[in-house]
Amino acid sequence: MADKKIIAVVGATGAQGGGLVRAIHSDPDSPFRARAITRNPGSDAAKALARLGAEVVAGDVDDAASIERAFTGAHGAYCVTFFWAHFSTEKEMEEARLMANAAKKTGVAHVIWSTLEDTRKWIPLSDARMPTLLGKYKVPHFDAKAEANHFFTDAGVPTTFYYASFYWENFILFGSGPKPGPDGQLLLTLPMGDRKLAGIAAEDIGRCAYGVFGRGGELIGKHVGVASDHLTGLELAAKLSRALGKPVKYNPVSPDTFRSFGFPGADEIGNMFQFYHDFEADVNRLRDPAFSRSLNPKLQTFDQWLKENAKKIPLE
Ligand SMILES: NC(=O)c1ccc[n+]([C@@H]2O[C@H](COP(=O)([O-])OP(=O)(O)OC[C@H]3O[C@@H](n4cnc5c(N)ncnc54)[C@H](OP(=O)(O)O)[C@@H]3O)[C@@H](O)[C@H]2O)c1
Repeated sequence: MADKKIIAVVGATGAQGGGLVRAIHSDPDSPFRARAITRNPGSDAAKALARLGAEVVAGDVDDAASIERAFTGAHGAYCVTFFWAHFSTEKEMEEARLMANAAKKTGVAHVIWSTLEDTRKWIPLSDARMPTLLGKYKVPHFDAKAEANHFFTDAGVPTTFYYASFYWENFILFGSGPKPGPDGQLLLTLPMGDRKLAGIAAEDIGRCAYGVFGRGGELIGKHVGVASDHLTGLELAAKLSRALGKPVKYNPVSPDTFRSFGFPGADEIGNMFQFYHDFEADVNRLRDPAFSRSLNPKLQTFDQWLKENAKKIPLE
């Protein structure tokens, strides 16, 4: 154990970071050991990571000293921010800046920064096809992450810029799954027209990140996206129907209709889907399932994910 290189993992009890910790510790030949960073080392989730063999340390991305301590002696660091915990782009950027500085100060040799596209490069603020949000963003949780990239490059931190895709778990946890329409028929309502959505099982994001660290420095300075499938609304609905044993109909709506749904973040998620729809080719080119599988041979397809998880999708 002592000769293994440490990978410090932010968000270790969550989706992305948790997948990485479990990937490291499910490989008996791994050259790495995970250092799981959590605000609460006493939680059940943290204890479960310790049982796998991970070192569990206290750290909060709003507390620079704690992150510097947690990165000290680490070979690698997985850096992720938590937009949906606070809905603040300022906070997200400050947390990224803090992690980049900590990585620089402690001499981390390889950071994976979980970023997303700056959608304003495709659809400038002046373009009225999509509303501008918070005064200076099109998709705030994308744009702010991209804006934070420079903290890593400016600090000279060896960084892989890492792009997750739509988690299939959003069908369980985020209310994106099929819901009964007025006549009781299950409807999968997405503003994706006939375009393909890139998606992935949350657990596979961390497994692919393990593959990135496993390639040594090969992917430093590169922009790497991951996805298991690119599927249209019709294809998603057909697969959901088969897995649920109930017919699911794709209900394509316009981005404006989606934004008007009124749940917290509906305008932001509507903009995100419009970005996925309007710039499908660029979004999906970056998130190549074949390359993702080369990083993570266990990559689950949507069908495989459904086999394990369809029963957890709330249908109300
Ligand atoms: N959902 C999607 O489809 C999707 C797609 C692409 C990208 N993303 C991005 O993914 C990011 C979230 O990653 P995730 O899904 O892995 O998160 P997550 O599952 O919500 O996990 C967050 C974990 O991070 C920890 N955490 C929260 N605040 C913290 C803080 N201040 N300091 C240290 N740790 C903290 C929490 O652990 P403790 O309580 O143990 O500290 C929690 O378990 C978001 O920024 C989102 O934009 C999401």
